[in-house]
Amino acid sequence: MNNYKNVFVVNHPLCCHNLSIIRDKNTTAEVFRSAVKRITYLLFYKATEDLELEEKDVNTPLESCKCNVLKSDNEVIIAPILRAGLIFSDIANDIMPFATVRHIGMYRDEDTLTPIWYYNKIPVEFDNPEKKIILILDPMLATGNSAIDAIKLFVNKKVPQKNIRFVSLISAPEGLKKLYDIYPDVKIITASIDNCLNDSGYIRPGLGDAGDRIFNTVEN
Ligand code: URA
Repeated sequence: MNNYKNVFVVNHPLCCHNLSIIRDKNTTAEVFRSAVKRITYLLFYKATEDLELEEKDVNTPLESCKCNVLKSDNEVIIAPILRAGLIFSDIANDIMPFATVRHIGMYRDEDTLTPIWYYNKIPVEFDNPEKKIILILDPMLATGNSAIDAIKLFVNKKVPQKNIRFVSLISAPEGLKKLYDIYPDVKIITASIDNCLNDSGYIRPGLGDAGDRIFNTVEN
């Protein structure tokens, strides 16, 4: 349970089990990545459950029937925040091969905890922004600053907030509140709301630096 109408915590038993694996500091990068992928499928189940459908006639080998297919004039855009978000986009591509992928390059200034942009090839204007469904992907919703900047990018292109979903593994209450106060209609899908941020902007208990754990760059 949480107090936000658009925040969905996927506390499925398989999410809980795999979260315990990725939180463990002794988990290797290989096992970390495979556990994240298992959680990601469950997060995407929730993040895509309200995609709109339309009817289509299909001929089976026996007869014709009506089938539901994804609405053809909607465009799904997967927007992983580099670099940690890449682990989500592998799975997103797998289950939505028709989606467009728009990478967002941002890193966090460790002193100010503010995001610094370094890559953005998203078109200046979108045709039919109301038909775009945006999935912004970042494993850790910490201060909320990167998430807010990424969402702002699409809102400024006239994509309705309700069409934007932010998918994370773990969220901090501070980041969730900040994001919700600015964008209450954006859906947030996460596997856990943790306790708090530490002074360096890391989520407690969290799992450490997600990018380092995924890409095996943890310095001891
Ligand atoms: N980014 C991470 O990778 N981990 C945190 O705990 C916070 C931000």
